[in-house]
Amino acid sequence: MQIIKTIAELREHLSGFKRTAFVPTMGNLHEGHLALVRQAEPLGDAVVVSIFVNRLQFLPNEDFDTYPRTWEADCQALERAGCDVLFAPSEQELYPEPQGFTVHPPTELANLLEGHFRPGFFVGVCTVVMKLFACVQPQVALFGKKDYQQLMVIRRMVQQFALPIEVIGGKTLRADDGLALSSRNNYLSQGERQEAVQLALALKTMADALSAGETDLPALEARAMLALKARGWKPDYLTVRQRADLQTPAAAHVPALAANAGLLLLGAARLGSTRLIDNLEV
Ligand code: PAF
Repeated sequence: MQIIKTIAELREHLSGFKRTAFVPTMGNLHEGHLALVRQAEPLGDAVVVSIFVNRLQFLPNEDFDTYPRTWEADCQALERAGCDVLFAPSEQELYPEPQGFTVHPPTELANLLEGHFRPGFFVGVCTVVMKLFACVQPQVALFGKKDYQQLMVIRRMVQQFALPIEVIGGKTLRADDGLALSSRNNYLSQGERQEAVQLALALKTMADALSAGETDLPALEARAMLALKARGWKPDYLTVRQRADLQTPAAAHVPALAANAGLLLLGAARLGSTRLIDNLEV
């Protein structure tokens, strides 16, 4: 595996390849990232992974400074997973001057859910992903479905800017108890780690209610929020959305959408000081 830290060197190195498959990350890699790398392998003649903790997508009160940087372990894991090129630019390399040009995703997709609770998050994500795309110039890019809204925003960005990149979603990997793998799971204390699966279970309970014919979505969402709150969580949202556009479905459409795999349950909640997100396609 080649480790490259500058854009010029990356371009030079990748000029020898015909088809690049790209997995952008912020490091602190877990099996979910490595599964994306493995998924990327047959899709290109070079698999490029980036590690860059992107300051632009963190709110001032968020964990940019403390976000775990696990360079040695990440390199070893990537090597084993079959990564060909690790692109790890410094902040100075990627943002040599304040990033005045930014990418603003459409509000109807990016100002709800994560965008509502983390204003500016998707501007930061789109801006860095656009820039990383410009550096790597991949033919294929892979993003985890755990960040479902992020995946949708990036798909839309690629489509609207007519970027010649195929965007592929990788399925969410889960621990044995069902907790979605996430870099932020590392923040959980032992007790919190045991509790953390309740977010996935809450989404499952909502899915079961939909299968049983529930159509009163506000009531269903309120019950789910209350149940998590009673366990000591601080939920931001537990919600039923249309998969196509993340909007709230009309009650009359719920049965048909549920029958045709057209719904998505999404949840975000704080456990102690750790904010976890998860989702479930139904
Ligand atoms: O999902 C992430 O790890 C980040 O949001 C991404 C896509 C690497 C952009 O910084």
